[in-house]
Amino acid sequence: MNWSATIEQTLLTTKANIARFQGQFPHVSHGDGKYQLVNHTDWTEGFWAGILWLSYEYGKDPDIHHAAVQSVRSFQERLQQESHLQHHDIGFLYSLSAMAGWMVEQNEDARQTALQAADLLLKRWRPSAQIIQAWGPEGDPENGGRIIIDCLMNLPLLYWASEQTGDPHYAAIARIHADKSRRFLVRGDGSSYHTFYFDPQTGDSIRGGTHQGFRDGSTWSRGQAWGIYGFALAYRYLREPYFLDTARQLARYFIDHVPEDLVAYWDFDAPQQQGEPRDSSASAIAACGMLELAQHLDESDPERASFQEFAEQSVISMANGYFTAGSTEEEGFLRHGSYFVRGGISPDDFVIWGDYFFLEALMRLDGRSTGYWYERSL
Ligand code: GLY
Repeated sequence: MNWSATIEQTLLTTKANIARFQGQFPHVSHGDGKYQLVNHTDWTEGFWAGILWLSYEYGKDPDIHHAAVQSVRSFQERLQQESHLQHHDIGFLYSLSAMAGWMVEQNEDARQTALQAADLLLKRWRPSAQIIQAWGPEGDPENGGRIIIDCLMNLPLLYWASEQTGDPHYAAIARIHADKSRRFLVRGDGSSYHTFYFDPQTGDSIRGGTHQGFRDGSTWSRGQAWGIYGFALAYRYLREPYFLDTARQLARYFIDHVPEDLVAYWDFDAPQQQGEPRDSSASAIAACGMLELAQHLDESDPERASFQEFAEQSVISMANGYFTAGSTEEEGFLRHGSYFVRGGISPDDFVIWGDYFFLEALMRLDGRSTGYWYERSL
């Protein structure tokens, strides 16, 4: 596969989108191939910023650079206003915008913004339950003691903040949360719960459950993918072998449960049959996670090659069967993503995080960038 040629096709869509979006941010589509635009009201704005930074790194296009820098400014304003930031996805938002701006061109304002975002994320730490609360205010009757597997991808902002400041507090909290996620969200066969509830006062475990999955005990494929990548990143920062083993178990489960074209159905416990929605974004995230995981395995470890190979083959399958291949009509890269199938929200659509991780996977496979979850020197 010619990775560069595929990346160049994405650039055609991105350049058309910059003109169309006018500083707003794509979220998901609703059956018409067009992105619903949002403006700092959701958890997804960072993915567009990340696409802009990756695209700029690829081709150094000044228009893309301008859009990337503008997007970081808008993230700074959002943070000053603390607008729609009362959730744990501060990590997704600020890793791919401000942290990226720092990593790509050492912009000190961007670095400061990312550090302030890390401080805000820390406010979601609940010492009594020893968790970072995903959603809702402290004491929320439904969500007060709840974690979700997606949060593993919010933790790099905290690990990175410790590295940058020399203050171990951020990473220490992230480590406790990652440990708890490993113990309670991951099951013995390598499958995962989407969410888990604890008693907010005592931290006692209550039960696993789901939000976007098929049912409470099912394995939501995107959650599984967040886990593969999130635990591999926990290992990169913390060098604790059990995080690597957990990423490995989750990756094996993912590989063993995808259909023939390697693109996951939306939940591994939903009927695995034609007509059931896929989630191409889960496969794009899992590909990046497996490429990350493979880098940490010894050359002599046979799974190093098999994770790398699976990631490559799944990206090729997406490029051949799901990719819009430089379309300037359709606004997304990757068809057949799903946001919330049971809730009827974008069950078979473009989802901006699918596009981001597809591009990150291409950039990784082309040896150009590993995204913005950690400093290149780490
Ligand atoms: N983090 C929310 C989602 O994956 O839909």
